[in-house]
Amino acid sequence: MLKVIYDLNEWVEIRKEAIRENKLIGFVPTMGALHLGHRALIERSRRENDIVVVSIFVNPTQFNDANDLKKYPKTYDDDLEMLQECNVDYLIFPNYENMYPDNYHYKIIEDDFSTKLCGASRPGHFDGVLTVVMKLLNIIKPTCAYFGEKDYQQYKLIAGMVKAFFMDVEIVPCKTVRAEGGLALSSRNKLLTKDELKIAPLFNKFLSSNLSIPEIKMELEKNGFKIDYIEEINNRRFGAVFLGKVRLIDNVEI
Ligand code: PAJ
Repeated sequence: MLKVIYDLNEWVEIRKEAIRENKLIGFVPTMGALHLGHRALIERSRRENDIVVVSIFVNPTQFNDANDLKKYPKTYDDDLEMLQECNVDYLIFPNYENMYPDNYHYKIIEDDFSTKLCGASRPGHFDGVLTVVMKLLNIIKPTCAYFGEKDYQQYKLIAGMVKAFFMDVEIVPCKTVRAEGGLALSSRNKLLTKDELKIAPLFNKFLSSNLSIPEIKMELEKNGFKIDYIEEINNRRFGAVFLGKVRLIDNVEI
């Protein structure tokens, strides 16, 4: 039976008992608007742990654009249904005051990789991500926490933070789940118009092609995408584009 927890103190009591009983706790942090990409992480966590915890918290500190935060999709009822179907034990659903008793005066900052790719176009984004993930890991105290390779830079930065701060949790990367045609599933896909959805798969098609970076940019622009960045780092090609007002990201091994 899914139990929804609004107050982090309530979780602390439940956690004490779980830890006393040596239970494996699997944790999947999310911002809701759940789709099959989230579901893959949750199902893996279900297979590998005794207790599965999912959090939904649309973290304001990682949005550098107030409008993007305002229009971030919210599908709470559908989310609950999926969590029940997946036999999740606990949904952590805190509010801002509960997550940020310090009103974000304390921050986790990485000053190298976080300044590149998405960090270059979204200043402060990864400070917000790392800070909220550190808080969540400290409060949940999971055995394993699951992250999608769709947000590869995020996954790498979180794995790096856990190592840097000797945090006692295993960070488990999970393959990107895609729609037919190759479009990486994302909560933001819900904001695309019908016409935009038709051309959106071209993003992955060109990103994973043998074309050079300038050629990829040209093809995408020809098809109506605006380029934020296409870059290769360590055998991986990363891309961020705008389709209308919606920003899409993806990455592929090369
Ligand atoms: P959110 O975008 O909701 O994603 C939650 C988790 O699901 C992340 O680890 C993300 O990489 C993973 N995910 C999303 N789409 C995926 C896909 N198509 N395939 C595989 N995994 C996918 O990422 C965040 O939330 C936030 O930044 C968060 C880590 C919760 C901190 O606020």
